[in-house]
Amino acid sequence: MSILVTGGAGYIGSHTCVSLLKAGFDIVVLDNLCNSKGSAVKYIKEITGKDFTFYRYDLRDIESVQSVFEKETIEAVIHLAGYKAVGESVRKPLMYYENNILGTLNLLKCMRERNVKKLIFSSSATVYTGALGKAPFQALTEESPLAVTNPYGRTKLMIEEILSDLYQSDPEWNIISLRYFNPIGAHESGLLGDDPNGIPNNLMPYIVQVAAGKLEKLNVFGDDYDTKDGTGVRDYIHVTDLADGHVAALKKLKNFSGIFTVYNLGTGRGYSVLEIIKTFSKINGIEIPYVIAPRREGDVDMCFADPSKAERELGWKATRNLEDMCRDSWNFQKTVLQID
Ligand code: NAD
Ligand code: UFG
Repeated sequence: MSILVTGGAGYIGSHTCVSLLKAGFDIVVLDNLCNSKGSAVKYIKEITGKDFTFYRYDLRDIESVQSVFEKETIEAVIHLAGYKAVGESVRKPLMYYENNILGTLNLLKCMRERNVKKLIFSSSATVYTGALGKAPFQALTEESPLAVTNPYGRTKLMIEEILSDLYQSDPEWNIISLRYFNPIGAHESGLLGDDPNGIPNNLMPYIVQVAAGKLEKLNVFGDDYDTKDGTGVRDYIHVTDLADGHVAALKKLKNFSGIFTVYNLGTGRGYSVLEIIKTFSKINGIEIPYVIAPRREGDVDMCFADPSKAERELGWKATRNLEDMCRDSWNFQKTVLQID
């Protein structure tokens, strides 16, 4: 029996594959490599010393997804495949709805056909951010109000609603939606990490490119937020901790008989942009030139998790600190530079 990992060649998916293999699970990976490289699959095998089948298939093509379920004995699915850039989703909403929603519907249909009813879905803290700012900020629990402000976020919330409807219609399904906060960091080997194409949108990939001399300076988006130093505060979590959260969720899923539930995966601590720059510089010995720039549209002051439900029910807790995250992010970038 195998665990099917969709999006398993991507940033979070590749680390999740490593955690699953290390925990003794057999896996099958499906990814169309639209935002990742085949070399990630090679590195997952190298790091773990284990083999698995990789299908370069697209979830929008239901026949190829069906063929995977025909060839493999799938016990559960971890579904990470999808597009994830907020700004791009505003410019190309149909592309986002088609890939994220249609891809998920195809997967769910194939699962139902084969009576595979265990699923872990990659959701996001973005489902909360549209509701922030109306009341004083409190650490986000799974019961916090939900609201989204862009098509990407809407796909995540819609999929959670689709999954909830599916469970209502057939309580034999076992579904966990994991709401990730801000994953950064990389595998300690330096072989797996976040390597976006073009100019990065997210903070840490941008910082490492400044450190590498590929970009001149960081624009800090706003220093007049209602936070400790005026810059935005987020809950950064090491991607390996996040990956381990999937293993904890999978173990829990095996014991459930009929459930739909959600968990926040974060550390419960918020760091500001300036704190990230300072820690990165200190741990890696590299100055990061930056300027204060205008606020970025759609950003919130503060966003961090109350991760206690995951600790209580999954026995999972993030263990790596910000220094680990900054060191591993840079270590990965150095490896990329050597390969490039
Ligand atoms: P990623 O782009 O690195 O990984 C996604 C993978 O899915 C890629 O390898 C891509 O090639 C693949 N993919 C996309 N569409 C596909 C399709 N139609 N068929 C097959 N494969 C397809 O992104 P990531 O950061 O690893 O994110 C993984 C998941 O976690 C996504 O669903 C994302 O929305 C969610 N998420 C990410 C973050 C974050 O900050 N990185 C935060 C919250 C949630
Ligand atoms: N920031 C800068 N300069 C940059 C990039 C970011 O100052 O060049 C700031 C942002 O203003 C924010 C913080 O750094 O205060 C973090 O920004 P990111 O873009 O790294 O992350 P976000 O919290 O905006 O969004 C990320 C993902 C979303 C996801 C969300 C919650 O991009 O998809 O985390 O999980 F929904």
